[in-house]
Amino acid sequence: MNRIGVLTSGGDAPGMNAAIRAVVRSGLYYGKEMIGVKYGFQGLLDKNIEKMRAGSVGSIIQRGGTILQSYMSEDISTDAGQEKAIDNMKELEIDALIVIGGREAMKTAESLSEKNFPCVGIPAVIDNNIPGVEESIGFDTALNTVIDYIDRIRDTASSHEKTSIIEVMGKDTGILALWSGLAGGAENILIPEKKEDVEGIVERIKRGEGREKRYSIIIVAEGTVSGNDLTVKLKQDAGIDSRLTVLGHTQRGGAPSARDRVLASRLGAYAIDLLINHKFGKVVQIRNNKPVSMNFKEIFSQASLIDDEMYDLSERLSL
Ligand code: F6P
Repeated sequence: MNRIGVLTSGGDAPGMNAAIRAVVRSGLYYGKEMIGVKYGFQGLLDKNIEKMRAGSVGSIIQRGGTILQSYMSEDISTDAGQEKAIDNMKELEIDALIVIGGREAMKTAESLSEKNFPCVGIPAVIDNNIPGVEESIGFDTALNTVIDYIDRIRDTASSHEKTSIIEVMGKDTGILALWSGLAGGAENILIPEKKEDVEGIVERIKRGEGREKRYSIIIVAEGTVSGNDLTVKLKQDAGIDSRLTVLGHTQRGGAPSARDRVLASRLGAYAIDLLINHKFGKVVQIRNNKPVSMNFKEIFSQASLIDDEMYDLSERLSL
């Protein structure tokens, strides 16, 4: 194995650059030729690549986003697209591929592996919603960004005695919302995995008022109900006047936290170790403070991602 490709796919996540740096520098350390693929899987279809040197990844460990760019390619989800990508990699003499990204990226890497192309996946997505993966790169930074905003909004909500709704990303999952709601002391956390009706939310707000709490923070995961619809419903059904903040893409940007930089550095290096040892078709992660790998199949056979104990705790602490 001489040439190793690396790409980033899906929504960018803080720490992707640190992972690219670790992959490139570890590959070079073992004397491999390192190839950056631009615009995610689309770059494989367009043969859009560049040779990476140690200097190509200088001064990026602290930068959010991805220097390789990201893109959602529809063509790569088809058999024909995947076969073309593999043919192109063969033509470009790329012997193995490291895929940095979220759930969809891991699925595509799995498909390429099933077609016998050596792939290793590095989980990187702010949603932290890859089954079987405890922590993906970018989650910690996004969580801290959300908490920073909750704290700011709490200052103004408490001054004006208002209910504040904060819409948090997470696609169809509520992990980011649950963690940020718990860490930010939110009174209500609405996530797709645990349906709650408006009555329940109102009851909680009223309960707070009963003990002279004059403002309330509601965290709503984007996959539950839109913050806008909830704002309207609270007004219509209960006469509650609230203010909405949709955090949107602010959650994806920014310098990666120290934790994400370390996670990305360890996973990037470990992905190369696996390839060097001819271990393919795997996703890497840290468990019990040690890098480990699992087959793509094992990852996707895991179920529910929400920690019920944590959800119950958030309810208990927001009496
Ligand atoms: O998967 C990361 C993520 O930021 C999700 O939380 C969100 O639903 C989605 O990407 C937004 O994607 P886009 O920027 O393409 O709208």
